[in-house]
Amino acid sequence: MAFTFFFRDITALNAIKDHVIPELRKQRYINVWDAGCAMGPEPYSIAIIFKETLGYYEFKRFRIYATDLDEESNEFGKILAKGIYPEEAVKRIPGDIFRKYFSSNNKPEYFKIADEIMQCVCFQKHDLRSLQPIRDNFGLIVCKNVLLHLQDSERINVIKMFHKSLAPGGFFVTEQTQKITGEVAGLFEQVIPNVQLFRKT
Ligand SMILES: C[S@@+](CC[C@H](N)C(=O)[O-])C[C@H]1O[C@@H](n2cnc3c(N)ncnc32)[C@H](O)[C@@H]1O
Repeated sequence: MAFTFFFRDITALNAIKDHVIPELRKQRYINVWDAGCAMGPEPYSIAIIFKETLGYYEFKRFRIYATDLDEESNEFGKILAKGIYPEEAVKRIPGDIFRKYFSSNNKPEYFKIADEIMQCVCFQKHDLRSLQPIRDNFGLIVCKNVLLHLQDSERINVIKMFHKSLAPGGFFVTEQTQKITGEVAGLFEQVIPNVQLFRKT
């Protein structure tokens, strides 16, 4: 099973809240792509941050497309669709958020995420190495702890694909250890120094 959990990177989530959402909420459609989403804690965490920040009607315009190779288990789509996660995956969620968006389940020590969050996340199987974006005009692409699995040349081509599938001025978030250098450096500008949050130039 791919390693992941809810609210894994609070600093990046806060950067999305402070720097990305204020820009995206001005747009008619707020489309986000979480590439390499594993079994769902990351896209659901992002959806919660948008729900917490956007108004009622703005949130109706929000959708997050969650994709993964799902090579090991072929189960990620089903896990995402059920929205039920073990205590281990949810235990780092801030208490107020947890109480608001999770409920107990028939299964002891498992928790179900609220329908309003589940409804805006759709899962699709997708291999980044295909270099075929799932759609275009994204306001935000998140790809964390995935690019390190790719060879250098594959990584560059995937970043170029992300750049192409972002709307003008769209945002890209990757993990702390990932640097945007070499031939892709000119495609983005870093938004803040302490998070790998970039904006399409
Ligand atoms: C460590 S998990 C990261 C999950 C989540 N992004 C996070 O940071 O918590 C890495 C995920 O990348 C996915 N992955 C690896 N290579 C991929 C590829 N070529 N295309 C799509 N997903 C890929 C794996 O299946 C796995 O679910």
